[in-house]
Amino acid sequence: MDFLRLLCADVLLVLGLLLGGQKAANGGADGGSGSCRFPAIYNFGDSNSDTGAISAAISEVPPPNGETFFGKPSGRLSDGRLIIDNGFVPQTNTEKLQIPYLSPYLDSIGTNFRHGANFATGGSSIRPGGYSPFHLGIQISQFIRFKSHSIALYKQLHSTRRLPRPEDFPKALYTFDIGQNDLAYGIQHGTIEEVRASIPAILSQLSQAISQLYKEGARFFWVHNTGPQGCLPYSVIYDKSKPGNLDKSGCVTPLNAVAQEFNRQLKNSIMLLRSLLPLAAFTYVDVYSAKYTLISDAKKKGFVDPFDFCCGSYYGFHIDCGRKAVVNGTVYGNPCSSPTTHISWDGIHYSQAANALIASRILNGSLSDPTVSITHACHSSKNT
Ligand SMILES: *[C@@H]1O[C@H](CO)[C@@H](O)[C@H](O)[C@H]1NC(C)=O
Ligand SMILES: *[C@@H]1O[C@H](CO)[C@@H](O)[C@H](O)[C@H]1NC(C)=O
Repeated sequence: MDFLRLLCADVLLVLGLLLGGQKAANGGADGGSGSCRFPAIYNFGDSNSDTGAISAAISEVPPPNGETFFGKPSGRLSDGRLIIDNGFVPQTNTEKLQIPYLSPYLDSIGTNFRHGANFATGGSSIRPGGYSPFHLGIQISQFIRFKSHSIALYKQLHSTRRLPRPEDFPKALYTFDIGQNDLAYGIQHGTIEEVRASIPAILSQLSQAISQLYKEGARFFWVHNTGPQGCLPYSVIYDKSKPGNLDKSGCVTPLNAVAQEFNRQLKNSIMLLRSLLPLAAFTYVDVYSAKYTLISDAKKKGFVDPFDFCCGSYYGFHIDCGRKAVVNGTVYGNPCSSPTTHISWDGIHYSQAANALIASRILNGSLSDPTVSITHACHSSKNT
């Protein structure tokens, strides 16, 4: 269970299948502005987009996770849905994908992979050797096996309703939200300067992973940058003691500076990939800004102090979300009564209310490069 506590991760991703579009997905090749009609999403990431992998593979995420939506634990580290569950965002259908909840690849029961699969696992990093065994290289291996195995099964089985259609793999959207744990693990085990120096090596592994998917026929990539790690309540609690460390929004400046450097170099890596992989369309999504703005505007948007959180405790006594303890007569671990007014759910992961607002900021493309909405992310090749 200690493992759960460490699951950070960055953002997540969004997905979905676009219903009712007008044109068939045909790659960015039509160069037009029509809806891409992505038939599936394949997502890679950490706890920001884990829809049940840790629950399936390691240990079930306990209540009160899931208390606001689902009404029971759903494998997500939140009171409800994540950014990747974006079908719930009140946005028009041309700005969001409407894909059923993504099944975790690692789940052995009750899954449906018709519209994609989720390889994201809480605690995962891009490089091996962090909090989780399921680093990005493993997630890519899992995808490659998933693809060949499901194509073979599709030909053999009579009932294929829960399998992806083989022809959908090249038309799918491939989404990434990973990197937060590379930074967090580095900071926990070394200096900020060492983490900064490791960014090129981390990003080179990400580029390799994307190139592997491209070789497998993937063409449409939607890549989230990493969030403001210095704004997580967990970071603020452990780092605010140093004078001058907090910025005007109350976030830890050196942590956010490293996240921003990661993002600057990530954006450059994507630019390079555009020239190396000419048939692909890449959308770089500035989730950092969506999260930072939400935290800065917390009061204006009707939230309580953005550094308050609902579940678990890091103050006085440390207890993971989902557990309770009585220490010296004080009860620790009672969840708050109003998750909908909190941005942070458990000090590291965002509440459903926050995820909905972040998703609605990023889905329409206003924070993306190029500025295409998620339903048009097949048109973001360098030629259009
Ligand atoms: C509980 O009380 C003991 C003894 O006074 C003290 O050392 C400890 O820090 C207290 N723990 C908490 C979480 O308040
Ligand atoms: C995108 O959505 C956000 C939040 O819903 C809104 O503030 C912004 O104006 C929208 N931008 C565009 C270009 O539609």
